[in-house]
Amino acid sequence: MLKVGIDIGGTKIAGGVVDPDGRILEKLRVDTPVDTAALAAAVIDMARHFAAGHEIAAVGVAAAGFIDRDRATVIHAPNIAWRNEPLKATLEAGIEVPVAIENDANAAGWAEFRFGAGRDVDNMVMLTMGTGVGGAIVLDGELFRGGHGIAAELGHTRFTRDGLPCGCGQNGCLEQYASGRALQREANAIADGGGIGRALAALREEKGSISGPAVSRLVLAGDPGATEALRRVATALGEACGGFQAVLDPELFVIGGGVAQLGEDLLAPVRLAYETSLPGYGDRPVAEFAIAQLVNDAGLIGAADLAGAEG
Ligand code: BGC
Ligand code: NA
Ligand code: ZN
Repeated sequence: MLKVGIDIGGTKIAGGVVDPDGRILEKLRVDTPVDTAALAAAVIDMARHFAAGHEIAAVGVAAAGFIDRDRATVIHAPNIAWRNEPLKATLEAGIEVPVAIENDANAAGWAEFRFGAGRDVDNMVMLTMGTGVGGAIVLDGELFRGGHGIAAELGHTRFTRDGLPCGCGQNGCLEQYASGRALQREANAIADGGGIGRALAALREEKGSISGPAVSRLVLAGDPGATEALRRVATALGEACGGFQAVLDPELFVIGGGVAQLGEDLLAPVRLAYETSLPGYGDRPVAEFAIAQLVNDAGLIGAADLAGAEG
């Protein structure tokens, strides 16, 4: 049975036809329209294109927001203009088969659990470090959705009191300290400070701003300023993972999103901060940390796999 998965990202919409083993048979990518009506039309077009060439049982759509338990409505989206947006109804008006909306990080986490970095464990937490910080929780082999469908918003757990304002309406959320955007903010602060920030400052001078991928390139080149920026966000993430371990006791944390392309350069400071904030460290079993394996395809594969399934 084939299903379609479509991942609505901040810059690209990625879609594919996915088989029961998580393999992508056909794939498409288009730019994400800014206008929400145009965005829905683009998703519908993509689904129709796939349905014309394959027998499709269901369509799963991954979106960056709080999705209700019916997997129909985007209740709230901290970084997009959706507020109680009936996305399933809008899409089903143009698509013949059932549509299920899924939180983007839940979709990615589920794909990693089934087919990627988490395929050998039963209890796993995924964190995505992109524009926001997304979370997924798999407990005893099942995706944990909570009482209203919107569990695992790990990016919106409070990291610090009186902290930076967040798109969710709160302040001090982990997302403000451990996202790709936080990495850019730290890089800018370090560029302002001179000293180890010289290469970052020169980059900003040349390009007008400091992008996430540019920080990553400097980290890989061994630049001390970029490495310090990464250490700060990795430390925030690792400290938060110590707390998540206390609550959920996963065997594995999988880290995804753009920042995760740094691999071990990211994981080493994450592990260090995790260990220094883990209750009972030294005596207790600890979790492993791994980088996501399905990278840009995780969201669409997971959304497809979860579509048409119960719960
Ligand atoms: C949103 C989540 C989403 C994450 C990653 C957060 O700001 O609240 O729903 O999964 O960003 O896109
Ligand atoms: Na989630
Ligand atoms: Zn928040």
